[in-house]
Amino acid sequence: MQIQGKTFIVTGGASGLGEASTRELIAAGGNVIIADLNSDKGEALADELGGQARFVRCDVTSEEDVQAAVSLAEQDFGGLHGSVNCAGIAIVQKLLDRDNNPADLGQFNKGIQVNLVGTFNVARLVAASIAKRVAADGGPANQDQGVIINTASVAAYDGQVGQGSYASSKSGVVGLNLPLARELTRHGIRVMTVAPGIFNTPMMESLPEKAKEQLEASVPYPKRLGAPQEFGQLITHIVSNGYLNGEVIRLDGAIRMT
Ligand SMILES: NC(=O)c1ccc[n+]([C@@H]2O[C@H](COP(=O)([O-])OP(=O)(O)OC[C@H]3O[C@@H](n4cnc5c(N)ncnc54)[C@H](O)[C@@H]3O)[C@@H](O)[C@H]2O)c1
Repeated sequence: MQIQGKTFIVTGGASGLGEASTRELIAAGGNVIIADLNSDKGEALADELGGQARFVRCDVTSEEDVQAAVSLAEQDFGGLHGSVNCAGIAIVQKLLDRDNNPADLGQFNKGIQVNLVGTFNVARLVAASIAKRVAADGGPANQDQGVIINTASVAAYDGQVGQGSYASSKSGVVGLNLPLARELTRHGIRVMTVAPGIFNTPMMESLPEKAKEQLEASVPYPKRLGAPQEFGQLITHIVSNGYLNGEVIRLDGAIRMT
C-alpha cells in the first residue's frame, strides 16, 4: 500500500516505538492519529508534526476511546487505512515472591488487558472501519485496502523469569495474528505482527546503565539495543509491501533471551 495520503492510528504513538512509527509514516506522506494515554507527550508530538497528525487521549482497553480515535480518522482524514498497535506495558512479577507468597492476580490481569485485550480491541474497531469503507467503495477488488500491525515481543517465545504476564500477553498477540489475517482476506486487509528484541525506548530508561550494558552485550549482532527508528522503518516497509501478510517478524539482532 502506498503510504502517501493514507491514514493510520498509532496506539502508544506518543513514545518509543510508537513515536518512531508515527514519525516514519508522516515522513512517507501518511496521516497519523496518535492514540495514547500520555496527553502531554502526545499533544506536543502532534503539534510538532503539523497537519498530518492528530492526538487523541486513548486507553486501548476502552471501546469508547478507541472508537473515538477511529471516528477522528474518518472525520478529519476521510477514512482509515490501518493501525500500528504499540501501546503496551511491561509487568514484572514472579509467580511466588521471596516468602513464597503467590503473585498478585490483578497485576497479571492488567498486563493481559492492556497488551492482549487492547490489541484485539484496536484490531476489531479498525477492521470494522476499513471494511465499511471498502464495502462502500464496492468491495476489495483484490486491492491492498488496509493493514493492521501489532506489536508482540521476543518474550512471546523466550519469556524470562518474572515475565509470566508479559510473555503470555505477547504470545496471545502472536496467536491472534494468523486467525485475523485469514479472516480479513475477504476485505483486502493484511495483518502483521512485529516481535521486537530490546529497543532503546523510555520503557528501557528505568534500567540502570549496567543492566543496559549487559543487555547490549547479549545481542549477537549488532551489539547494541535497537533504535526506535529501525522499528519505524520496518512498519513503513510492512505497510508498503503488499505481499507481507499473516507473519510475525522478529526484529532483534538475533537475540535469544535466556
Ligand atoms: N522497548 C523494547 O525493548 C520492547 C521490546 C519488545 C516489545 N516492546 C513492545 O513495544 C511496544 C512499545 O514499547 P515502547 O518501548 O515504545 O514503550 P514506551 O513505554 O516508550 O511507550 C508505550 C506507550 O504506550 C502508552 N500506553 C500504555 N498503556 C496504554 C493504554 N492502556 N492505552 C494507550 N496507550 C498506552 C504509554 O503512554 C506510552 O506512550 C509495547 O507493546 C512493548 O511491550 C518493546
